[in-house]
Amino acid sequence: MQNSISPEKTHQLDIYSGFPLSIERGSGSMVFDSRGNGYLDFYGGHAVALTGHCHPHVVNALIHQAETLIFYSNSAQNSSRSSCIEALIDFAPEHLNKLFLCTSGSEANDTAIRIAKLYTERPYVISMKNSFHGRSGNALAATAISRYRERAAHSAHMLLSRFGDLDHSAVLFKRYPGEIAAVLVEPIQSSAGVYQADSNYFKELAYLAKEQGAILIFDESQTGFGRCGASFCAELIGVKPDIITASKGIASGLPMGSVFISQELSAINYSGLLGNTFGGSPLSCAAARATLEVILRERLIKNARETGNYLKDTLKQLALSEIKEIRGEGLLIGIELKSKAGPIIKELFKRKVLVGSATDGKTIRLLPPLNVSRTECDMFLEALEDALTSVTDITLEQAA
Ligand SMILES: Cc1ncc(COP(=O)(O)O)c(C=O)c1O
Repeated sequence: MQNSISPEKTHQLDIYSGFPLSIERGSGSMVFDSRGNGYLDFYGGHAVALTGHCHPHVVNALIHQAETLIFYSNSAQNSSRSSCIEALIDFAPEHLNKLFLCTSGSEANDTAIRIAKLYTERPYVISMKNSFHGRSGNALAATAISRYRERAAHSAHMLLSRFGDLDHSAVLFKRYPGEIAAVLVEPIQSSAGVYQADSNYFKELAYLAKEQGAILIFDESQTGFGRCGASFCAELIGVKPDIITASKGIASGLPMGSVFISQELSAINYSGLLGNTFGGSPLSCAAARATLEVILRERLIKNARETGNYLKDTLKQLALSEIKEIRGEGLLIGIELKSKAGPIIKELFKRKVLVGSATDGKTIRLLPPLNVSRTECDMFLEALEDALTSVTDITLEQAA
């Protein structure tokens, strides 16, 4: 265990159990510890390194912007922000042509819920069991100034529905007639363990929400910006949500969250209702603009689709007996094991491969950069086979 940055351990509140290493440098799909050991990063820097670590185009854009202007808030216009917004709107589904910029996925979801409650003048929100949408909801509930709280600070007014179960959502709509402002859903429940639902479910959910006058919010924090082999997962599913929230890799690691909404919904906004200090910072915007340029120029959406299929197909062909199911789209892949994933994640770490865990405790989550190569995929596959074999051997030895 490398503990060179000890204040992190001694003074920072405990956050994640984390990898037992200090990551100091990154390049493409590789990260390096303080001793220079390289690790294959199939966790993608917490699902953030869409363009790989330190992509030269992103780095150059950042250097240029840092030398020009690091920060000024939205209280003045800025050309870095303008060109970023233009690029983001061009990238987003056509019907979502209004944008709010913030600094995290949580803030994006807080804001989306707020917009839905203000627009519908209703208090309740349906979200899904096992969903993950962030941690900042209490910030608004704790704010006392009434113009910020208007109809939106009912943090207790969350209803949980079963993901993939339309009838259950329909029952909630019946139980709270005219009171449900929004349905908030991840198109793929990534943190839970990369769980998917049928595209017909989402289409019917969109229909149900519309029929009931509720706003459909897709949380694409993990699935957006090419991750699933399409610009957004909504496109893959064939649904047009009223709001899409996104974050994670939009700016290749600079903090950015975004709320894409329609012109119609944007009518509820008035100057001063929404805002923040750091949303749309010139530096984050320069990184986001450069990230989108890389995604488009290097055809990373296509790569995510094709490389993701390669990984999934090869995993299936290997027919490893310890694997129960392989799920996901593009380069968001869940490998569900028959037993706990923790020991395999540790074995992969010993082989210098980083992967994500999931709330279900059984699934290994892969979120490599969208420009990951086939060679790197083969390195991962070899390490996984080896890790699975070694754990099986240990178990057999213990059983003997
Ligand atoms: C689907 C989803 N929504 C929201 C969030 C919260 O984002 P943040 O940690 O940037 O607040 C996450 C973070 O993992 C996420 O996966």
